[in-house]
Amino acid sequence: MNLASRSIVTGLLFAASTLGYAQLEGSKADTTPVHHPVPAIQDTETPAQRDARMAWWRDARFGMFIHWGLYSIPAGEWNGKRTTHIGEWIMNDLSIPVADYKGFAKDFNPTGFSAHDIVALAKAAGMKYIVITAKHHDGFAMFDSKVDPFNIVAATPFKRDPLKELAEECRKQGVKLGFYYSQSQDWTYPGGGAAVRPGHNQQTGHWDPAQDGSFDDYLKNKSIPQIKELLENYKGFPVVVWFDTPGKNMTPERAAEVVKLLNKYPNLIWNNRLGGTYKGDTETPEQYIPPQGYPGQDWESCMTMNDTWGFKSFDTNFKSTETLLRNLIDIASKGGNYLLNIGPDSKGVVPAPEVERLQQVGKWLDVNGEAIYGTTATVFDVPTGTFSTTEKGRNGQPKFLPTWNWRSTTKGNKVYVEIFDWTGSFHVDKMPRKVTGAYLLADKAHKPLKFTQNGTALDVQLPSKALDPIATVVVLNTTM
Ligand code: GLC
Repeated sequence: MNLASRSIVTGLLFAASTLGYAQLEGSKADTTPVHHPVPAIQDTETPAQRDARMAWWRDARFGMFIHWGLYSIPAGEWNGKRTTHIGEWIMNDLSIPVADYKGFAKDFNPTGFSAHDIVALAKAAGMKYIVITAKHHDGFAMFDSKVDPFNIVAATPFKRDPLKELAEECRKQGVKLGFYYSQSQDWTYPGGGAAVRPGHNQQTGHWDPAQDGSFDDYLKNKSIPQIKELLENYKGFPVVVWFDTPGKNMTPERAAEVVKLLNKYPNLIWNNRLGGTYKGDTETPEQYIPPQGYPGQDWESCMTMNDTWGFKSFDTNFKSTETLLRNLIDIASKGGNYLLNIGPDSKGVVPAPEVERLQQVGKWLDVNGEAIYGTTATVFDVPTGTFSTTEKGRNGQPKFLPTWNWRSTTKGNKVYVEIFDWTGSFHVDKMPRKVTGAYLLADKAHKPLKFTQNGTALDVQLPSKALDPIATVVVLNTTM
């Protein structure tokens, strides 16, 4: 995680653990104006313009992250050594020399890649947008780049542009497409950023003289021109640009050069990882769900299905469909989006356990999607867990221990209650609205459920068996 978002996260957890829920409720985003060398869209638009720009993204709730690149060839193992870290970091973590890493390109021939199938998979999963790694920290471009020959078209036997193929399929199948771009780290281009590991230069993070050079030259000659190519060459896409790991290199002045480009695309959405004090549009909690979400802000939890983003042949630690689906519901109940990753292998094939789980999540959404898409956060003031008094979680703060009995989402007059832990009844002490009717979303007949509302307490009688063992949705019609 980059430094900027880490401090935001630390701040949130600190606030949550010391103040408790009540004080966090309704807490507002920090709107203190920051002076930017070049104002970004977020600095100049009105709240109404922002709502319009973010509308599709807020409705979408569920997207597909794709981490795919040359690192799928070593797949977690190089020269007899296995990395214990995430797969796409293998070059940096095992200090692979630039020439050796670049050598993977001549073996990269992912003939199993099908843009059609991947977009169809996203659709079947109920995902409304895709964000794919156009260039990760290794510097290898997964698109046709005239700027630098270290790319999938010029340097591999494959010679195809998967981003172009995905863009075409996304247009056909009605899915939105975004590009991830590592603007600051680049481990194969002179001057690019890298992370310090034992044996690396302690300032630059470099481990191979081929990496030495000027960061400004890298930015001017590769990073910014490639971002420009990505913005210009894919007809209507990307709708999202997902930056990453700005580090200390991305000063306000340098980031401003990127912002000049982004400003030409007034509908674009970009995340909070550009750096240089630009906040972008979206908070990006990584590999966790913030206990309270980010009230008043747009946010997206990005998460892996196993323990790596980029394919690792030996990582089979896949989360269950139950966990993935409940994560989606949990996130929606806090008003956020879920960007769930797949990591295709070196043939371009999506690992079978990932396909299987996504299809299962999609089956649930086929029936219950109304309770997710276009919804806003819960109306209930009920904690979704507690902070441990003994265990430490991220950044040394008390660990958040979620409880998994139920969550709730809202759309206009409808309140959806997604029940995980089925007991045959539903009770809540404080229902802030008057209930006029209740039924199960998966029941096509919408047979009315019996309920009583005494003061603020609500009790709904449910059938003895859940309609779905992972989550059964009760719909409450309400008057506000
Ligand atoms: C991190 C990692 C990266 C991954 C990203 C996804 O910051 O550096 O490998 O792409 O998170 O959120």
